[in-house]
Amino acid sequence: MPDIDGTNEAKQYFTDVPQKSESYFLKGSNSLDWGMKNRLGRIFNPVSGKTVMLAIDHGYFQGPTTGLERIDLNILPLEPYADTLMLTRGILRSIIPPDTQKSIVLRVSGGTSILKELSNEDLAVDIEDAIRLNVSAMAVQVFIGGEHERESIINMTKMVDRGTRYGIPTLAVTAVGKDMVRDAKYFRLATRICAELGAHYIKTYYVPEGFETVTASCPVPIVIAGGKKLFELDALKMAYRSIQEGAAGVDMGRNIFQSHSPIAMIQAVRAVVHDSETPEKAFDLYNTLKNKKS
Ligand code: 5RP
Repeated sequence: MPDIDGTNEAKQYFTDVPQKSESYFLKGSNSLDWGMKNRLGRIFNPVSGKTVMLAIDHGYFQGPTTGLERIDLNILPLEPYADTLMLTRGILRSIIPPDTQKSIVLRVSGGTSILKELSNEDLAVDIEDAIRLNVSAMAVQVFIGGEHERESIINMTKMVDRGTRYGIPTLAVTAVGKDMVRDAKYFRLATRICAELGAHYIKTYYVPEGFETVTASCPVPIVIAGGKKLFELDALKMAYRSIQEGAAGVDMGRNIFQSHSPIAMIQAVRAVVHDSETPEKAFDLYNTLKNKKS
């Protein structure tokens, strides 16, 4: 139906209002395609720019890890508090309800166990299956300085290429060999190599000295793994410092699911990550929630 008059038409087109052109909220991600950005925006909260990923993929090389023996009983209650679940396709298909609204980061490298050389990984999931599972990113372990450094880097670049075809980001997970020094120099090297070769974001460990140089020299977002279980306040301090020193979130496992109160702990971690709450206040929150439950 024709418009009533020309004045009305001019109003509806807002000819005097230029269309906004906004940059994407995540570091180094502005030139990515729409699907990549949409998926990253399901992992990282566009308001805080941060993420709390719950890492529960440990079984892929070490079997039923403490706290992960019964994912249906121990982990599903934590799901509402995580931004993202990081896990294997076996656990995803067998235990996670398909109506979850949480984004999924799928572990796609594997092939070794704690009984053998861990760096000898291959790609263990087809891109088609990642698409079928509607994942928001794919995680590949990269062993810089490890025995199979080259193969692990090429695993990552293959997934970057395959994921780019379909708009699925790749998370490079930097793994540190038992005998290697975990310091800022090593993590600058490892994270930068992964970013240069196309990883869309990178998981690394926090180091107390010089972590801000790791985040500054990495052109894409960094999230930290929690590592071995610490006293809850110490884990919150680590998460807090990492955020203050430039991390875009955590991909935390044992310090959440091995906590005395995992539901309280994940909420305390959220306070530190999304609200920049101090570790002391977050620890108070942890204790309050823990005591409420008991
Ligand atoms: C295993 C992983 C884990 O997801 C990672 O180590 C995070 O878990 P945690 O916080 O327990 O260290 O990538 O290879």
